[in-house]
Amino acid sequence: MVHAFGGAITAKRIQHRVNNKRLTAYVNGSFLPLDEAKIHIEDRGFQFADGVYEVIACLGGKFLDIKPHLKRLEHSCQAIQMKLPYPADRLESLIQQLYQKNPFEDAMIYMQITRGVAPRSHTINAPMKPSLVMTVRELPAPSEEKLADGASAITIRDFRWGRCDIKSIALLASVMGKQEAARHGVDESFWLDDDHHLLEGCATNVFAIIDGTLVTHPLDHQILGGIMRDMVLRTARSENIPVQERPWRLDEEHLSECMMSSTTNALLPVCHIDQKTIGHGKPGPVAKHLRTLMLKKLEAFRNS
Ligand SMILES: Cc1ncc(COP(=O)(O)O)c(C=O)c1O
Repeated sequence: MVHAFGGAITAKRIQHRVNNKRLTAYVNGSFLPLDEAKIHIEDRGFQFADGVYEVIACLGGKFLDIKPHLKRLEHSCQAIQMKLPYPADRLESLIQQLYQKNPFEDAMIYMQITRGVAPRSHTINAPMKPSLVMTVRELPAPSEEKLADGASAITIRDFRWGRCDIKSIALLASVMGKQEAARHGVDESFWLDDDHHLLEGCATNVFAIIDGTLVTHPLDHQILGGIMRDMVLRTARSENIPVQERPWRLDEEHLSECMMSSTTNALLPVCHIDQKTIGHGKPGPVAKHLRTLMLKKLEAFRNS
C-alpha cells in the first residue's frame, strides 16, 4: 500500500477515514457542511479574482512546512495591499480546527483569502473585511505507472501576467494550460518565456539535470517560489549535488533528466516533453535519488 507521495506505508498511522460526502468547510468564521458553505456574489474574489491562496499538505495529521506557506501567503497579501484576516498563529489554529473536522490520513488544505464584499467597482474605495474560505481534501497518491514511467508534459508560450510570484486566485491561464495538457494526454504544461526558457508548470516548478547539475529557473516575478522547490534544492545541496538557479532550455547539451515539484506530488521525474524523450525515457538516477531522499524526509516528518 502506498500513501500520498507514493512511498510505502511503514509507520504508525492515524486511523481516521472521512466520508467525502460529509466534508466540512470554513467560511468567514463558521464551520459548515461543504454544500452549505456560501460566499456573497459581490465578493471581489468572484468578481475580480481579487485574492490569493495557499495549498498545504498534511501528513498523518501534521502540516508540512506550515510556516513557509503562511509566510508566502503573507507575501502574496502584502503584494496586493491586502491584510491577512488574522495573524498567522490564529490562521494556524483555524487550519488545525478544520483538519480535525476532516481528519484524512493525508490531506491537503486549500485556503483562499479575498479582499471581501463590496458593490462592484474596480477601485478599492474603502477598507474591506477580507473573506477567508478553507476546504480540506484527501491528498491523492500518484499512480504506480507514473512513478515507474515518469510524468509527461508539453511546453506552451507563457501568456500569464507579470507577477507569478504572487499566489493569485486568478488561475484562468493555469486552467487553460492544464486543459491543453489534458488534450495532449500529458500531465503538465510548462510555460516558456520568449527565449524558450522553461519557467515552471501550471501548478509545479520544473528542474533539469544538465551536465550533472540540478538547474531551475531563479526566483523572480515569472515563477512561484514553490515550497517543494525549496525542499528539492535543500535536498540536492545536502547531497552535494551542484545546483544552479538560472534560466535553462530543453535543447541544452548534456540535459539528461527533468523533474517537477509541488506540494501535492513532492517530486516527480518527467520523461517526455513535447513528444521528446528525456534521457532514456525512464526516471533518471538523480531524480530517483532525490525523490527517495525527499520521501524519507516526509516519512520522518509524518512520524515525528
Ligand atoms: C504556478 C505554480 N508553480 C509552482 C507551484 C508549486 O508550489 P508548491 O511547491 O508550493 O506547491 C504551484 C503550486 O500550486 C503553482 O501553482
